[in-house]
Amino acid sequence: MSSQAASAERGRIQGAKHDFTASYNGRWPHAYFRACLAVDYMLPDRAKPIFERIFADYRRIRNKTKLKIIDVGCSYGVNAALLRTDLDLDDLYAAYLEPSGSLSRQEGIEHRAFFRNLGLRDDIQFVGVDPSFWAVRYALDLGLLEAGVTADLETRDLTVEERSALADADILISTGCVGYATERTFARVYEASATSRPWVVAFVMHRFSYDDIAAALRAFSLETRHLERFRQRQSRFSTSKELRAILKAMAKLGIEDRLERTTGYIYASCYISAPPGEAL
Ligand SMILES: C[S@@+](CC[C@H](N)C(=O)[O-])C[C@H]1O[C@@H](n2cnc3c(N)ncnc32)[C@H](O)[C@@H]1O
Repeated sequence: MSSQAASAERGRIQGAKHDFTASYNGRWPHAYFRACLAVDYMLPDRAKPIFERIFADYRRIRNKTKLKIIDVGCSYGVNAALLRTDLDLDDLYAAYLEPSGSLSRQEGIEHRAFFRNLGLRDDIQFVGVDPSFWAVRYALDLGLLEAGVTADLETRDLTVEERSALADADILISTGCVGYATERTFARVYEASATSRPWVVAFVMHRFSYDDIAAALRAFSLETRHLERFRQRQSRFSTSKELRAILKAMAKLGIEDRLERTTGYIYASCYISAPPGEAL
């Protein structure tokens, strides 16, 4: 597919999906959390124990304690906040959205103190990749991210400086971002850290195929497995139009839709890619 056709296809796919995009790049995260709560977005919460389990396997297999994680589509550092603390997503919703919550005001000093006082664990470092400048900047300011790559890697290559921020990674993770980010982004990010042979763990909203990303990772000699038992709830359907469009796209991809039809929630599949024979 030409890159123009691919981007038109991307637009069509995103078209029927609940549109959060206006909230992605605000100076403060409140609008993002509000938009997420409105559709009961819970994927980072549901993914947390799975990531923790996979991080533990990785530490054992690679005999490592400190991990460098690259979060593709990191937004305001949500995965970093959850995985570096004991918080869950409801704690974050309350902190940001409850009128007297610790993070309800636009006060950088308070936001920094909130996470510092929780004692962010430092045996997991995060590097974020996301085109949303303000979101990455916020996560960096708070110390949730060690480094950030503010780039749309669908449309351009990494700079030398960005490549060095991504080098020596242990695991690439992603939640809620495949669809915006395709094999182009994943190949560019992986290539920058390929020497350390990182694993890739992605939660992919039902209606998006992971085939092209798995094929791009195969070029780096990674094997991809669909971990069916780790499939998780992502968010509520926001309209019946969205439900219809997603069920139609799922049928086209041959994805089983029993859960979507019965619960009214959209699910995300979990994929893991690693050198042959290494993971799980
Ligand atoms: C639904 S949010 C998910 C954010 C976070 N991972 C979470 O689960 O809360 C989607 C994110 O993808 C980002 N995004 C959009 N286009 C992207 C691209 N080409 N590459 C990487 N991230 C992208 C958006 O800026 C936004 O932060």
